Amino acid sequence: LISFRRVQTVSTMAAEEEVVGSVKGQLVQLFEASLRITVPDQTNTEPLIAACNPRFGDYQCNNAMSLWTKIKGKGSAFKGPQPVGQAIMTNLLPSEMIDTCSIAGPGFVNVILSTQWIAKSIQKMLIKGIETWSPKLRVKRAVVDFSSPNIAKEMHVGHLRSTIIGDTLARMLEFSNVEVLRRNHVGDWGTQFGMLIEYLFEKFPNMEVVSDQAIGDLEAFYKASKQRFDSDPVFKERAQHAVVSLQGGEERYRKAWSKICEISRQGYERVYERLGIGLEEKGESFYNLYIPGVLEELNQKGLIEESEGARVIKIEGKSYPFIVVKSDGGFNYASTDLTALWYRLNEEKAEWMIYVTDVGQREHFEMLCTAAKRAGWLPPADNSYPKASHVGFGLVLGEDGKRFQTRTSHLFGKGDEWTEEELEQTAEAVGYGAVKYADLKNNRLTNYTFNFDQMLNDKGNTAVYLLYAHARICSIIRKSGKDMEELKKTGTLVLAHSDERALGLHLLQFAEIVEEACTNLLPNVLCEYLYNLSEDFTRFYSNCQSDQNPSAGFAFSLRVSIATESAAVVAENILVDSVYGICMDPIAD
Ligand code: ARG
Repeated sequence: LISFRRVQTVSTMAAEEEVVGSVKGQLVQLFEASLRITVPDQTNTEPLIAACNPRFGDYQCNNAMSLWTKIKGKGSAFKGPQPVGQAIMTNLLPSEMIDTCSIAGPGFVNVILSTQWIAKSIQKMLIKGIETWSPKLRVKRAVVDFSSPNIAKEMHVGHLRSTIIGDTLARMLEFSNVEVLRRNHVGDWGTQFGMLIEYLFEKFPNMEVVSDQAIGDLEAFYKASKQRFDSDPVFKERAQHAVVSLQGGEERYRKAWSKICEISRQGYERVYERLGIGLEEKGESFYNLYIPGVLEELNQKGLIEESEGARVIKIEGKSYPFIVVKSDGGFNYASTDLTALWYRLNEEKAEWMIYVTDVGQREHFEMLCTAAKRAGWLPPADNSYPKASHVGFGLVLGEDGKRFQTRTSHLFGKGDEWTEEELEQTAEAVGYGAVKYADLKNNRLTNYTFNFDQMLNDKGNTAVYLLYAHARICSIIRKSGKDMEELKKTGTLVLAHSDERALGLHLLQFAEIVEEACTNLLPNVLCEYLYNLSEDFTRFYSNCQSDQNPSAGFAFSLRVSIATESAAVVAENILVDSVYGICMDPIAD
């Protein structure tokens, strides 16, 4: 049984900026220097450094094999990959971060980090705040295009998934000091508005004074107008005419369009509010004005061709082209996205455009990207910037294995120890956290099954379990009765026990994990980090408590707890904001 209360977190804000850099990043620098000495003529060899199986060490450098294949038979003094590895090891400059190195197999250099250095780095973090461990990315400004529902149509569970993943990606980048433009690219333009407007005029001749409530459910309204459109040719013609009037900017039509958008907006803004997500709407209509100019530029670059009455960009390797002007002369999804990309690059000066939609749209974004490369807007290589990335995700499935349909369910039964208000607050925090986390922890490309029982399980890899683990750390710290700020500064931290060291090393890897999650746009990497952190903490706590392990000393262990807590807060906060600051206390406490 668990009760909830808001607890003060013990993480400190960084007073001044000091970038520790990731462990991996620092090893890369060390090995880079060694490689320059070892193989001076192989100037662009990038050090291949990875965390490795703890049986061999903490990290491994894997350059020897590939270097050997490059230099063998070319008069090199080396006799095989192992001597290459040996030389890489010997040429390492002395560093306080490394304890010992050894060679394994065909020249792998295994590195065991200095435990003292790990402890010292953690102590620094405790004083300066874990925020100083944010990774340095190569971009300054990024656009995250996410959520993006369509006006008057249903905001389905795919849009919800885009909202959750997009928000977390934005948080990850924001933590890494990237300025993020959170863009809601709503579908607020297009031919469907002709029929919607015409239907609005028909049902409410006095459109100016009609209330939003009278129009009611927009989705039903959309269906009714569609039915009218399909069954009545006179209406259809009027609707087509309405599109022209709207695009021509006629006042009455613009107003009707605004009204429809506004009603829709109220609907999805309620969702964002509940999920605690901030977004700035720049819908498709925003870019309409710029489309002709952008297409003209592409035309002058010779990219646009005529095909069956339409204007298209041919894409190598695709059986059909990227249609940018329809045969009726109208613009479409593609022309809007090309223009939005142009706008984000040139007007908003963003270096990374990230689009979060289901995998079904992969092709569209591949074509968009190829067209932009052909236009010279983006560099040809995928690892250089500016860059456009499609973040695709799989379907949300119901327990029956079919596409998920929303259903209502009770999160908790009401027990005696809950007041109505507590129950409400708890259900909200845990519920939203659980739904978000259940989505984020999967590799986003896979479909995932929406299952309340699973996501609310307090034992598996769930938000509930992590909150519980976190609460336990808070409770240990609180019950010690020590002054945390004092404790952080006094004495030297020692990682005496192997479980303590393992936890320490894991903590230290925070920056490189966030960096990896950002670079590959994979929130699940960070989820895994958090889950392992709580596992490592549990092991540390059961094996290294002061009474069982006098060498560690309670104060030392306590400081490791504080460090763990601050990492947990920050990681949780990057992933899902709604659970931040809410911790559970075991009632038995
Ligand atoms: N409105 C689109 C949909 O619901 C998603 C838009 C995604 N963003 C974009 N720039 N195309 O499918």
